[in-house]
Amino acid sequence: MKVAPSVLTADFSQLREELTTIETADYIHLDIMDGHFVPNISFGPAIAKTIASKTRLPLDVHLMVTDPCHWIEGFAFENTAFITVHIEAHDVKESIELIRKHEIGVGLSIKPKTTVESIVPFLSDVDLVLVMTVEPGFGGQSFMPDMMEKVRALKRIREDGNHRFLIEVDGGIGDSNIDLVKDAGVDIVVAGSYVFNKKDRAKAIRSLK
Ligand code: DX5
Ligand code: ZN
Repeated sequence: MKVAPSVLTADFSQLREELTTIETADYIHLDIMDGHFVPNISFGPAIAKTIASKTRLPLDVHLMVTDPCHWIEGFAFENTAFITVHIEAHDVKESIELIRKHEIGVGLSIKPKTTVESIVPFLSDVDLVLVMTVEPGFGGQSFMPDMMEKVRALKRIREDGNHRFLIEVDGGIGDSNIDLVKDAGVDIVVAGSYVFNKKDRAKAIRSLK
């Protein structure tokens, strides 16, 4: 299981030290919120650039923004592995093309109330599907187990359609539900509070792996 700690819950007053505590992770998940697509604002390209320059880990950028085309350039760093946009946002097709133009992995995310059917037309064009297991906007919410039905459906569609996308889940992940998530067929888990609310981050990451 690959692990992508979300820095949303990190202590931003000592971000550099916080980044060193998650060096055993596979990705760093950056939750970008515009205060419009979700009722919260997190951080933008300037802070993301600092994070990109302070880690050797690949970045997994999650754009929870209404106009992703406006923001993709600002998060296209050397070590940006994925930029994920929401199907519920504007200009999805154009944003997928723009991410591809930067030769960065394309991610597509669905909120809990959004169906898998709504992203089927895009699945041959994406490298990652991010199934939200909480309503986006805040860390520390409770995991929604019925979202595993979507993961199983995506796994079937991937096999039937000979697609290549990875399946990632995001929200409320911890040791109480990691087995459920793994059995459903998830490839990457995002974990914010489970990792950053622990003193021993490496141990928290190991337990999820
Ligand atoms: C919510 C974010 C998630 C969240 C994960 O909008 O997309 O990445 O921060 O945090 P936890 O693991 O604390 O639910
Ligand atoms: Zn996220």
